[in-house]
Amino acid sequence: METNRLSAALRKALNEQMTREAFASQIYLSYGSWAASEGFDGIANFLFRHANEERTHMMKILEYIIERGAKVKIEAIGKPPADPESIQDCLEKTFVHEVDNTKSIYKIVKMSLEEEDWATWNFMQWFVREQTEEETMVMNLLDKLKIAGGSKAPGASLYALDRDLKNTPDDAVLAENKTVENP
Ligand code: FEO
Repeated sequence: METNRLSAALRKALNEQMTREAFASQIYLSYGSWAASEGFDGIANFLFRHANEERTHMMKILEYIIERGAKVKIEAIGKPPADPESIQDCLEKTFVHEVDNTKSIYKIVKMSLEEEDWATWNFMQWFVREQTEEETMVMNLLDKLKIAGGSKAPGASLYALDRDLKNTPDDAVLAENKTVENP
């Protein structure tokens, strides 16, 4: 008896997204290693924590494909890009990467809508929200860097930013998550 509840197209798209999340983890690992080698231990810590978060995204999709009775295929993960040239460059490239990932998530949402696969549509809403948080998080960091002087930020400002990032939460808090009970 056939128990697979995912179409071939959605299975493929979800599988590719799973690999994309693994790739995102590699990017954060690579950028974190670069930051550590440049002496920015707080920024490295933040990027390494985020690498782990991307891996949990990968696992979330892997588990969903299995739950829906379809088969997961583990593929090769691409090589991370070259090291950034500066903290500004690192954050800008991270932002572009997150926006690309959001577009990829939206494609799966659109596919699930067109197929009327409401289980997958519902599952993907978590990722839609997560991507909003991640884009906001990197935007906030770019804003902080801008205040510190952007690409011309002096050493003292970068030092303070690096120290603060060690304790920065992994996700941005969004206005829509705030309630009267939990302001
Ligand atoms: Fe899993 Fe940063 O997206």
